[in-house]
Amino acid sequence: MSWDELEALCRREGLHCKQLGVNKANVNEYEVEFLCDYKKTKEEEFYLVKWRGFPELENTWEPKRNLRCPKLMKQFHLDLDEELRRHKRRSIPKKLDKEVSSILVQKAKLRQSLQRWEAHLNYTRNHPGRIFVKNDVDLEGPPRNFTYINNYEVGQGIVLDEMAVGCECKDCLEEPMNGCCPGASLHRMAYNDKGQIRIRPGQPIYECNSRCSCGPDCPNRVVQKGIQFDLCIFKTENGRGWGVRTLQHIKKNTFVMEYVGEIITTDEAERRGQVYDRQGSTYLFDLDYVEDVYTVDATHLGNISHFVNHSCSPNLQVFNVFIDNIDERLPRIALFSTRAIRAGEELTFDYKMQIDPVDTESTKMDSSFSLAGLPSSPKKRIRVECRDCFGFAGFVEDQDSKRRDTGG
Ligand SMILES: C[S@@+](CC[C@H](N)C(=O)[O-])C[C@H]1O[C@@H](n2cnc3c(N)ncnc32)[C@H](O)[C@@H]1O
Ligand SMILES: [Zn+2]
Ligand SMILES: [Zn+2]
Ligand SMILES: [Zn+2]
Repeated sequence: MSWDELEALCRREGLHCKQLGVNKANVNEYEVEFLCDYKKTKEEEFYLVKWRGFPELENTWEPKRNLRCPKLMKQFHLDLDEELRRHKRRSIPKKLDKEVSSILVQKAKLRQSLQRWEAHLNYTRNHPGRIFVKNDVDLEGPPRNFTYINNYEVGQGIVLDEMAVGCECKDCLEEPMNGCCPGASLHRMAYNDKGQIRIRPGQPIYECNSRCSCGPDCPNRVVQKGIQFDLCIFKTENGRGWGVRTLQHIKKNTFVMEYVGEIITTDEAERRGQVYDRQGSTYLFDLDYVEDVYTVDATHLGNISHFVNHSCSPNLQVFNVFIDNIDERLPRIALFSTRAIRAGEELTFDYKMQIDPVDTESTKMDSSFSLAGLPSSPKKRIRVECRDCFGFAGFVEDQDSKRRDTGG
């Protein structure tokens, strides 16, 4: 039995139970799980109640005066108003159409399943930034077959050699010894004293690691501290699936999130890509900083970056990061803001980065969004029409037709 069912059983049998919070004072109270329907007579208004812990067959009509669930009632009426508007009806009828009440029940169930998913995501995350989930657009629930992870998962047959050397600076920013960790590979310190990125896209970030003598407050530790902002996974209104928006203001050049997933070989990515293409979505990110050997697959395992959409004028930019692992074929991928981002704005990055020609070390998402006309990688797959700029960002290559578009 679920906890809800156990609690309902206690109440039915008149039993008290400390763990379930059922006591003498409240044993005769029942909890409304959600409201399903509405009707009114001359004298009174009624709601059809789904009781927590009871099957829907045991739903009952209750007069409004018996109910004490103001939040659920408010939500029910918001949903109802929206439905009536959709049916171009101005006032609440005495009795709801079957079609309307059925949608209201579906909405209530959707809200519950999204809340459960949100709680699960927050339970799983290991970063300070909280995750919220919202779908005000349609009746799609949490994605199936997706597990939230915080760090790369290494696929079969791939061995990470964690071989970083540490620095011995007293103060990694003010008094770096031999250039601190970035200096060891002749690179510049990536951050200023506020933790903002100050190198150009294409240049790598070498953060301090577990072998360094500096502590956790070292200014050269940013990406490793994880997501700091409250973010919301929301359903987009123009057919781009789910997206991510920030709920807090983000300053320019600030670390926002890492792109994590399963690390697989590029050959394996090629195989999986063919399956994903048929499903019409891609979550493959090629790690081509020095060599095209590995790909991050965030299709089934990923963090919130799984939901970040593409834009041709994005507000996030990708950087390659090395922390404990210095294998240049396996950088971590970090997304930094390219400008100040207001609370409420959607976060996006350019899946096909066009990095300044002087910065040859580039990083890009699986080529689905490659611009037509540019040299095509062998991995080019489905074309996705970018609904962000209404230009198009790739080309179709299916079995029957191999045609290249000219727009864009
Ligand atoms: C990494 S996922 C982003 C999250 C995705 N929207 C979802 O619901 O899971 C990439 C997929 O999102 C969709 N997408 C992302 N950006 C888009 C855009 N600008 N225009 C149209 N579709 C987009 C495409 O289906 C693409 O293959
Ligand atoms: Zn140092
Ligand atoms: Zn260091
Ligand atoms: Zn340090």
